[in-house]
Amino acid sequence: MNICVLASGAGSNFRELVRSSENGLITSQISLLITNNSDSGASIIAKDHGVECLHISRKKFCTISDDEFSAMFLHELVSRKIDFITLCGYMKRVPQTVLEHFRNRIINIHPALLPSFGGKGMYGINVHEAVIRSGVKVSGITIHFVDGDYDLGRIIFQKCCEVSDDDDAFSLSEKVKKLEHQYYPVIVRKFEEGSVSFAGDRVTVEQTES
Ligand code: GRF
Repeated sequence: MNICVLASGAGSNFRELVRSSENGLITSQISLLITNNSDSGASIIAKDHGVECLHISRKKFCTISDDEFSAMFLHELVSRKIDFITLCGYMKRVPQTVLEHFRNRIINIHPALLPSFGGKGMYGINVHEAVIRSGVKVSGITIHFVDGDYDLGRIIFQKCCEVSDDDDAFSLSEKVKKLEHQYYPVIVRKFEEGSVSFAGDRVTVEQTES
């Protein structure tokens, strides 16, 4: 696959996908990063690894209409023959035309077990603080399709970790990051192999026999 990553922040998941492509864990090429934040860590990682980086934000293109902005966004992807999109900490809404064009080919990773601890305001350390406050005994990661609203797409994959009595938001975020870095490339690989199928809202990921 020819993958575009959308990222706004540090970009550690983006880096992990790039590394996975470089070391053959995934066969796709990560050929484009789109960031809304020209100062993002992700854009530095892109530069270091020779990945093309586009800075596209509504602020930068404030004179064009929403429709023109969406069309431009989609054009950048289609003209580069991008056929799969992974969100890695992308803090903006993906334009509707892009969502429609890439239906079933655009995924996100969330640092908790959806449908809990998702939605408005649930990003970064806020998520882990909410998890700790709630007293739940497990947290983890969710990889899901991006279908529309934040964190509401069909769930593809989840993995749990324990929330220990002595965990705080920071130690929990470390545990969850480890899971993200381990499993995001694995799930991309499942898409490459055609091992992800869906019926209605249920998504199935075929397990590889060992
Ligand atoms: C990750 O925790 C991811 O789950 C969420 O945003 C964070 C991005 O982290 N969607 P990074 O920029 O990849 O380090």
